[in-house]
This record gives sequence, C-alpha cells and structure tokens, in this order.
Amino acid sequence: MRVAVFASGSGTNLQALIDVGDDGRGLVAIALVLSNRAEAGAVQRAHAAHIPVHVIEDVTDGADIVRVLRAHGIELVVLAGYLKLVPRVVVEAFEGRMINIHPALLPSFGGQGMYGMKVHRAVLDSGATISGVTVHLVTAEYDRGPIIAQWPVPVRPDDTPETLQQRVLDVEHQLLPLVVTSAATAGGIVRLYPRASQFEPSARPASVKEALTASPLLVSSQ
Ligand code: GRF
Repeated sequence: MRVAVFASGSGTNLQALIDVGDDGRGLVAIALVLSNRAEAGAVQRAHAAHIPVHVIEDVTDGADIVRVLRAHGIELVVLAGYLKLVPRVVVEAFEGRMINIHPALLPSFGGQGMYGMKVHRAVLDSGATISGVTVHLVTAEYDRGPIIAQWPVPVRPDDTPETLQQRVLDVEHQLLPLVVTSAATAGGIVRLYPRASQFEPSARPASVKEALTASPLLVSSQ
C-alpha cells in the first residue's frame, strides 16, 4: 500500500513507519512525505531514507495537494504531527483513507490548538491518571473523526509534560505502524479492538500488538 505521511516536526512517527516499510515484506511503502517546513526533522528523515519529499508552499491550496498525492499514486494518508489544517478538498478526496495520530485519549484533550506539549500539560493539569494514544479517521472537524485504535498510557504522580510525552511516544511508535500494516493487509483501514483480556487486572500484555486484534469491520476498502 502506497502511503503518504504529512509531518511538521521531528518525525519520530514517520521513522517508525519507515522502519515498517523496510521490514522486507513489501506491504507498506512510504511513497511520499509532505511538510510545510523544509527544515523539519521529518524531511531529513525522508531524505535519509530516499523517500520523495514535497514541501507544501501554500498549505491552503488543497487542489495542489490532491494533485501531488494522486501523482504519487497514494492510497493512504497519515498525518503524523502535521500542524496545519488539511484543506477540506483533500479530506474529501481521501475520505476513509486518511488517519491522524493524537497523543491522548480522544475525545478528551483534543481539538484546535491541542498539539504537542500542550496536550500533555493539559492532561497533567486535569489530574487525569490515564492518558494514551488515539488514531482516528480525519474528517473536516479537528480530532473528531471515528476512532480506529486507542491505547492507554498511565500518568505517574511525578510526571512532567516531557516524561509523559516520552511514555506516550513509545506507544505511538507501536500503534501507528500496527494500524498502517493492518490497513495494508486488509486493503483498507480496519478498526483495532483490544482483546478482552486487556481489561483483566492480571493481564500485562507484552506489547500493544499482542493485545489488539483487527476487527472484521472494514471501515473503508477504497
Ligand atoms: C506526536 O505526538 C503525534 O501524536 C502528534 O504530534 C507528535 C509528532 O511527533 N500528532 P513526531 O514528529 O512524530 O516525533
């Protein structure tokens, strides 16, 4: 499956996807990286992996973005730390084929302006004892599309935004590749549900992958 990744930042999630693409099975090809910042770490990672990069000149020009995605034969779009609003025409062109990763358990701690460290500060300020990771379909509304996969991350009493961010990122780097490889295997985005045992107090899944199972419900086969 030919995947495009939009990223504005350091690109550690992009790296996790590149590493999956390199696993030799050929299921997932990161075929294009798009960024609004030529100097982003994500762009450097793409260059290092010999992945074509498109630096978006005008982030509001949806028709141009769609043209670029089509020219590269993109089948799935992943927003991984992309800090600009994706124009509606792009969302519509890739309806059911565009996902975003968010570093908290949506629908809490999401919405416009909730990104990066702001999310983790808000979680700590709220007193929540659980945060997590959400992957969801992108719709016209910020952080409100149907949820594809979630995984909880405990908040510790001595957490700083930085320590919480790192614990959440470790899970992001497992969950996002799992969602993308599941989509590539199924030929379209599939929801991932926790196996029932995740909720047993004694259950200590060794990894996110072991504890999630693909639902037969095909969200989109486009
Ligand atoms: C991640 O926390 C992701 O959930 C959010 O932006 C951050 C991007 O990090 N949307 P990176 O650029 O992948 O390191």
